[in-house]
Amino acid sequence: MKLWGGRFEGEASTFFEKFSNSLHFDRKLVFEDIEGSRAFAQALLRERVLTPDECRRILEAFSEIADEAQDPRYFDGAEDEDIHTFVIRKLGEKVGPVAEKMHTGRSRNEQVSLDLRLYLRSAADTLLDRLGDLMSELLALARKYPDAVIPGFTHLRRAQPVLWPHYLLAFFEMFARDCERVRQARERIDVMPLGSGALAGSGFPFDREALAQELGFRAISRNSMDASGDRDFALDFLYGCSVIMLHLSRLAEDWILYSSEEFNWITLGDGVTSGSSLMPQKKNPDSLELIRGKSGRVFGSLTSLFVTIKGLPMTYNRDLQEDKETLFEAFDHTSESLAMAKIVAQSATLNPGKALAAVEESWAVATDLAEELARNGVSFHRAHQIVGRLVLESLKAGKKPGDWTGDTLAAFAPEFKPEMARLLAPSEGMEMRELPGGTGAQAVRRALEEAEQRLKQMRESSGER
Ligand code: ARG
Repeated sequence: MKLWGGRFEGEASTFFEKFSNSLHFDRKLVFEDIEGSRAFAQALLRERVLTPDECRRILEAFSEIADEAQDPRYFDGAEDEDIHTFVIRKLGEKVGPVAEKMHTGRSRNEQVSLDLRLYLRSAADTLLDRLGDLMSELLALARKYPDAVIPGFTHLRRAQPVLWPHYLLAFFEMFARDCERVRQARERIDVMPLGSGALAGSGFPFDREALAQELGFRAISRNSMDASGDRDFALDFLYGCSVIMLHLSRLAEDWILYSSEEFNWITLGDGVTSGSSLMPQKKNPDSLELIRGKSGRVFGSLTSLFVTIKGLPMTYNRDLQEDKETLFEAFDHTSESLAMAKIVAQSATLNPGKALAAVEESWAVATDLAEELARNGVSFHRAHQIVGRLVLESLKAGKKPGDWTGDTLAAFAPEFKPEMARLLAPSEGMEMRELPGGTGAQAVRRALEEAEQRLKQMRESSGER
């Protein structure tokens, strides 16, 4: 069945039909399409295009179609052009010719935008839930080792000691911003396009506000041409997905390193690692590698849609059909990667002794010593030089910070007071970092409590959606 054809004399090329059909992927929108069409049937009733009895029969038939569509075999053998055509054909099979009234004053251009918006609105909710689950798991992992110390890196070189919870809270903040981004995208998705017609506004005076209310949208679109050709709500969604994947990928990269034999700070559960078909000793972090790998595909989706839209003349063009596969895929990768990361976090254990040893074997306390000199009146530039020399000397002599004492320090440079030797222990320098946002024990304890509160509030407010 086709929703058009009167104007044509020649048959469609079968190759073109196959080339242009989208049912094999837009069938994913079947429930959204039915939901939108149900609301639209009621709008047609209000306009007296449908009689109450016709509308009732149509609504019943839509319910049946929704039930039947639960079974994926429902689509077997269907050759319809797209999901909209498929649903109308199914409707016709149930209610007869009255189904043909369903396209009165409605275009597939607005219908497809509506379906996508319905789909992405609930996709955004799924992402928010999964982000929340992961964030809660990160907090639990922080709570397990409240005092553990790890080396913080810059340039992948041991830089300064930080608390393990401080490190995890950094990711918590990234994911908290991701939640904001997804919520903002959701706001712009949450706009109802029906009534726009093909591009010029419908020829029937539908009560668009009533349609929006019925479908739970916060607003109606303001311009029919914009509604027909716009996909930036989908770009917003893909950008949100991309930044989530970017953050997940960095977390994955860290944990792949930290769980390697070279680091051995964390151990990943057997359940999220795999072995080698050849090398019996291997325990590989494939779950994290796949997260890192999938991120590239999601960035590709964002780029792909950008390029698809960039040169399109106003308003709708069939190019826009190419938005869907990549969008669905990006959503699936992102929500699955979030769920995977949560399971990995659940399985991970920290080896606090190893991480601490990595601090103690290095000169990660060098900044603490220099700052202590500066607190005692030495200019920071001079302090930096003195400690730099101390590090150089130690490296030559194979000494670690713990090999120095108050006396040997004072003998090394007169600026050192013997009591400054306490800063050779990593916990001492961290105590100086109690300002908000720092890695001081109290600051981190407070940050952890605040994070728990924020997450709780976030989850409560998303429960009200
Ligand atoms: N399958 C189309 C899409 O995904 C639906 C809209 C078709 N509209 C049209 N005028 N051909 O964009």
